[in-house]
Amino acid sequence: MKETATITVNGKTFELPIITGSEGERAIDISGLRQKSGLITFDPGFANTANCQSDITFVDGERGILRYRGIPVEQLAEHSTFVETAYLLINGELPTKEQLNGFSVLLNDHSLVHEDMRAFFENFPRSAHPMGILSSMVNALRAFYPEIPERTEEEEINITVTRLLSKVRTMAAMSYKIFRGHKVVYPRHDLTYPANFLNMMFDSPVRPYHIDEDLVKALNIFWIVHADHEQNCSTAAVRLVGSARVNLYAAISAGICALWGPLHGGANQAVVEMLESIQKNGGDVAPFIARARDKNDPFRLMGFGHRVYRTYDPRARIMKKACDRVLNKMTQRDPLLDIARRLEEVALSESYFIERHLYPNVDFYSGILLRALGIPLNMFTVMFAIGRLPGWISQWKESIDDPMWKMCRPRQIYIGPNEREYVPIGERG
Ligand code: ACO
Repeated sequence: MKETATITVNGKTFELPIITGSEGERAIDISGLRQKSGLITFDPGFANTANCQSDITFVDGERGILRYRGIPVEQLAEHSTFVETAYLLINGELPTKEQLNGFSVLLNDHSLVHEDMRAFFENFPRSAHPMGILSSMVNALRAFYPEIPERTEEEEINITVTRLLSKVRTMAAMSYKIFRGHKVVYPRHDLTYPANFLNMMFDSPVRPYHIDEDLVKALNIFWIVHADHEQNCSTAAVRLVGSARVNLYAAISAGICALWGPLHGGANQAVVEMLESIQKNGGDVAPFIARARDKNDPFRLMGFGHRVYRTYDPRARIMKKACDRVLNKMTQRDPLLDIARRLEEVALSESYFIERHLYPNVDFYSGILLRALGIPLNMFTVMFAIGRLPGWISQWKESIDDPMWKMCRPRQIYIGPNEREYVPIGERG
């Protein structure tokens, strides 16, 4: 017999179906509640509401689990590459050798950006935030690469997905080079996806960039652990905007805007800013730990704690390893990285943090890793956006194929004034 829930309002009982996910999560299906009872539900921030059924990513914050299409993120970080993980997320299965080669060739073929787009990059003010530039330019891609009526819908989607994955990386590096007034470096067919990105960022005619495979591996890992995190704010934005059936570029552009927010993608930047402020104050972490513990001080240690993970964030564990590997091979010590290590040590042994399960989160280590890779601070969130692209794309694809699809249109509880008369301007007090 199917499990149901009943709610009773003013003596009337309504029966609602319960749906169960493949990992045992249960939800009351309230989609028919308004029709049956005239009642709606109230859930600010959708904190208790599932907006869809999804077979892409599983997160269990209590047990510290993150899996893409069933595969633990730890295994992907160890054995996979970002490109292979992107294929898995978007297509549902790991690729065969031929499929992976084909996908890599396509990414290479689509990695150039229309030359006319350079004019846009060149004319943004130097002070423009790279996330603002990226969201505008992703939206502009539709103008440069319009739909071709001869293509089937499937062909159109496939080419758009490939363009996005490939060009966003090129555009991010291009905007950095133009911002610095440097010569733009073009993608190379002989480099892997992350190696190409590092080369486009840091190669210069006067100082050729030496590709270090350990840094490439670390960047692969950074992007793999950021590739999807089910219905977070930016992914929900992609699904919501996409539900109006806009083109994929516009939906992804909306996701980039949501990720820009300091409460979402901006935390890795906040970690480094906090470390800089510790350095400016003499480098002693103790006063900052004391402030974090002080109930009367709103200060929080950036990069510690997580809304969903009440145990160690599995991504943080992976990032810490990657970070340690990179830091250990650096010949020149970065004083900020030393401060980070001291902070981590103290916080992991302090009862305040232990009792509240405040472990370092993925942003703590990713801020440090990105700095070690030489990524400028204001591009940290752009790095997150490149990593999150496969997640946004796969969630968008799933939503447009969903038989239960509906345009997102939440309801509200109106609490404004009741009907009143219009008062002509001369009679208003
Ligand atoms: N530093 C010091 N104390 C903290 C911190 C912190 N970073 N985070 C939580 N606490 C304390 C709270 O003061 C609270 O203490 P109390 O029980 O004595 O009142 C207790 O821990 C529980 O905190 P909540 O506010 O219930 O935790 P919540 O789930 O609301 O917050 C959040 C999670 C927003 C991530 C929080 O830990 C935080 O602000 N961290 C710093 C910012 C950060 O790193 N964000 C990135 C998250 S990862 C990501 O988004 C990819």
